[in-house]
Amino acid sequence: MPPEAYIDEAWFARERELVMKPLWQFVGPKMLLGKHNAFLRRSICGVDVVVQNFHGELRAFENSCLHRQNPIQQQPQGVRPLVCNYHGWGYGAEGAVENIPFHDSAYRLPTQERACLKLRGFQLRCVGQLVFVNLSTQPLAIEQQFSTAMLDSLERVSAHFDNEVLIARFPARCNWKLAYENLRDSLHPRYVHSRTLYQQVKFAPSMDETAIADVRRYHQAGSADHEAHMARLRTFSNGGLDSPIQNMPRFSWHENVERFGTDDWYMNWLAFPNLHIASGSGGHSFIIEHHQPVSAHSTELLVYYVTARKKRSYPTSGAVLLSHLEGATKVLREDIEIMEHVQQGLAPHVPRATLGDFEYINQAVERWYMDVMERRRGIA
Ligand code: FES
Ligand SMILES: [Fe+2]
Repeated sequence: MPPEAYIDEAWFARERELVMKPLWQFVGPKMLLGKHNAFLRRSICGVDVVVQNFHGELRAFENSCLHRQNPIQQQPQGVRPLVCNYHGWGYGAEGAVENIPFHDSAYRLPTQERACLKLRGFQLRCVGQLVFVNLSTQPLAIEQQFSTAMLDSLERVSAHFDNEVLIARFPARCNWKLAYENLRDSLHPRYVHSRTLYQQVKFAPSMDETAIADVRRYHQAGSADHEAHMARLRTFSNGGLDSPIQNMPRFSWHENVERFGTDDWYMNWLAFPNLHIASGSGGHSFIIEHHQPVSAHSTELLVYYVTARKKRSYPTSGAVLLSHLEGATKVLREDIEIMEHVQQGLAPHVPRATLGDFEYINQAVERWYMDVMERRRGIA
């Protein structure tokens, strides 16, 4: 893509409207929303979004109080009713204002006006334990974005996520697109992770000649029609077994969890645009990595660490998550460092990337993305 796609703030704003808002966006794991009044607050495409559990029903709203625009939930996650802390306005499952303290003595809103007070709601879809929202008024079906096989796979793996979750944030001074490109590049681990991940997993490019020839044609000619354009989008997301893990370490806590699968393989789920799930322990534990675009130059990586669901609780489970974080953080920092270097190298005059055959998915994404950005195709 042209360097502007990674460095220009006007481009970033256009990308948000044309590419990101029409797509389903990950909000967070459902394990954090288990109780009545549990909530998640996230900035999705620049919109302050709250997902709240009302007696088991999950609802997504704009997190802005209708009285004076104070954010209703102030923490990134927690358990608290949907009540504004400025003057106590309380909201119900439909987003309507259910309680206005001192209404009759102080506010005295006309009945008509009060009846119209309703938070802006968004469509929400749970894929197993993964919560997605769509910000558009006429959202595309999530099945248009992800194939049935991908949705099934996400459901099956997330069913194994445990309820104990460790969350960490990593700011990265780079464009979010560098992260998805990096994840679809199987040659970088031997250089960037030579002393960490690559010691255990010998990633190698998959040279699927049929797919490569198909992407070559697509890159030249684009999609035949809208349907083909949307079908192409579904090829950007996939998941499952990636590569074998050499001499996978065994830990006693493995006995305490219901492992996902039985293979000593590195597993990887890439959900376009910005969600990545991986297991570097053959299904005993997982990282859920969400790359949240902040600006053209900055991305916040929000990472959730979980083990497979516990068969029984055990006293060291917190320590297991901490050591999981420590191991995964080394690899993540290596990626962030290289992406920040690439970002520094991007300037208006630099030539465009030179992608090889093994990077065929990134080549396809480039064509698809540019078709949307240059309004040759839309998302619906
Ligand atoms: S701003 Fe929310 S109740 Fe006043
Ligand atoms: Fe990497």
